[in-house]
Amino acid sequence: MLSRRETILSSLKAATALGLAASSPLGTLLAGNAAAQAASPVAGLPYGAAVRDGPLDQEADYRAALVRHCSQIVGEGGLKWYDLRPTREQFVYTAPDKHMAFATAHGMTLRGHTLVWYGAMPDWTKSIASASEAERLLVGHIEAVMGRYRGRIKSWDVVNEAIPDDPASRSDIRPSIWQQRLGESHIALALRTAARVDPGAQLVINEYDIEFVGARFRRKREAFLRLIRDLKLRNVPLHAVGLQGHLRGELAIDKEGLSAFIAECRAMGLAVLVTELDVIDDKLPGPPEVRDILVASRVYDFLDAIRVAAPLDSILTWGITDKHTWVPIYFKRTDGFINRPLPLDAAYQPKPMMQVIAHFLRDRR
Ligand code: XIL
Repeated sequence: MLSRRETILSSLKAATALGLAASSPLGTLLAGNAAAQAASPVAGLPYGAAVRDGPLDQEADYRAALVRHCSQIVGEGGLKWYDLRPTREQFVYTAPDKHMAFATAHGMTLRGHTLVWYGAMPDWTKSIASASEAERLLVGHIEAVMGRYRGRIKSWDVVNEAIPDDPASRSDIRPSIWQQRLGESHIALALRTAARVDPGAQLVINEYDIEFVGARFRRKREAFLRLIRDLKLRNVPLHAVGLQGHLRGELAIDKEGLSAFIAECRAMGLAVLVTELDVIDDKLPGPPEVRDILVASRVYDFLDAIRVAAPLDSILTWGITDKHTWVPIYFKRTDGFINRPLPLDAAYQPKPMMQVIAHFLRDRR
């Protein structure tokens, strides 16, 4: 295995090979002295990761990495309808209770993900036939689930991915059983219910694909902003915008567009969280050293664009190690190299992406 120094040197060589000037902000950051990048460069900072049950139960290295690096965690699953509500009557809290116990035992906090999402819905929800039935179920779900963790889960992705991939207009909302039965009002209903059930919780609306250069992403940003503005105008309780940050290795960050979007959110009094950061790397060159620099560079651009307009209060990655990541489920590489979307490699060694995250969290305003 490469030593820490060798890893840094090989990253630097790759950076030079890529034309990343040693004097560029990322070049300077990666060249920074190794002592400053101690074993856990994010220890004590508001960094966290999504956790997966298999390795959490079975792998001591995985648990150790979480304990060493994270001050918060979120379940990759567990609180999704599919996991919690196998039938209309049942609530299965095994996974979230376990996540809460792990977090508490190690002085971490647990985020809640998620109450309203089109995805991971159990089949039985297709039989929700009327607006009144939908309202009863949605409100009952939020009362039960948020109620159980009241005062303990302090930040919730109440609404996840409400905007379609390519919105037809600024008022386009992604289809879901909630949208079909209740229209857009299901979003305000969920947020109002959440505020009533746990008035102390931070209520978040979470979204992806709003940070890239391109017309489709601009339209998605605009539709997202339209929805947020509308909620705030109507005094619907909403405290933060969650940027998932599933970055695409091949797509440049629209730094101006993203900063402008964030500035608008800040002007409405909203906090900004990074909730699911990773870099989907199936279209990047294979060699790991080169790929790791390109990945770190996307993360740098993304966090830099946010920081221009808002304090970076919290960054979570969607997993902590390349060993356990959702990315190959949908974006597996075809050249035999494994995906490397996360801050630790498959042997739990920090990669340049970790240094970038640490840098932005250390310097947060
Ligand atoms: C993903 C999980 O990582 C997978 O394990 C699961 O099969 C599907 O969901 N955006 C989200 C997350 O908000 O809930 C998704 O998580 C990834 C994309």
